[in-house]
Amino acid sequence: RIPVWLDCDPGHDDAFAIILAAYHPRLHLLGISTVAGNQSVEKVTRNALDVLHFAGVPGVGVVAGQAGPLMRAAAICPEIHGETGLDGPHGGPALPHSRRAPLPGKAPVVMAEAISAFLGEHPDAGPVRLICTGALTNAALLLALYPELKGGLAITLMGGAIGVGNMGPVTEFNIQVDPEAAKMVFEAGVPLQMVPIEVTHTALATPEVLGRLLSSHAGISKFKALVGQLLTFFAATYREVFKFEAAPLHDPCAVALVAAPSIFEVEEMRVDIETISPLSAGQTVCDVWHQTGRPKNCAVARAMDVDAFWDILIAALDRAEAA
Ligand code: BDR
Ligand code: CA
Repeated sequence: RIPVWLDCDPGHDDAFAIILAAYHPRLHLLGISTVAGNQSVEKVTRNALDVLHFAGVPGVGVVAGQAGPLMRAAAICPEIHGETGLDGPHGGPALPHSRRAPLPGKAPVVMAEAISAFLGEHPDAGPVRLICTGALTNAALLLALYPELKGGLAITLMGGAIGVGNMGPVTEFNIQVDPEAAKMVFEAGVPLQMVPIEVTHTALATPEVLGRLLSSHAGISKFKALVGQLLTFFAATYREVFKFEAAPLHDPCAVALVAAPSIFEVEEMRVDIETISPLSAGQTVCDVWHQTGRPKNCAVARAMDVDAFWDILIAALDRAEAA
């Protein structure tokens, strides 16, 4: 199995990334770190613990990460994920609270220790795949503090846009929150994959998909009912803010790229992060035609077999329901 670490900011779509990372049979989830983004780091950490409890995942720890970007003020996103970061359709949290507590320590330190311990015990099992579905603050600190880990690490992230953004005209949320951290990650020289919104916007939870996703062997179970509540809230905010007909499940796409790369089309290219312009700081400047001549540093997902993606996600949800 592929060893993975998930760095996230749950967040409705992050919740599905957690379930997919925990239940895809090809993945071995080593641990989870959180980062401020969709909500404060306290709230997203609580949400990560609640998702693990809800999905019946034992033995995976959660460590709280950075409370804000490296150099900028924290930005949160209640208009999409609600006051709790994981609201249900009636306000308040969609999932019951668990009594689990986060691991002690700081995220980059705990991540580095877990990754080196794993590689020490399984020298042939690497690289460990760091999957980032929030701002890249923890990832940047990990690479800066522990450059010796770079040889054993590869990063796959949900974020960025080749063209039109979702937070600004050309900026996507995860990269726009902490452009300096993103710049550090994109220039770190580690193997890098990015799933931009052009691809994640094809993972739309349409009524047909919802029908499949929520159907259950035992009628509609409590588990699937709560999954339905998460998706109902998320669909409503996407309708309100973006006029989308259905909610795009961005974050599990990055997990799927690690678990099932054959369902993606990817293209190597140069991607640089704009950090200076007030208009476009956080833009992923994707050199599709190799016009800069700069060395290629990122495998960018260009398309995904959407039916295969839903098959994979639904299988993981079914496993979680049975757990
Ligand atoms: C990204 O922003 C967040 O709100 C989502 O969780 C996802 O990671 C999409 O732009
Ligand atoms: Ca996210």
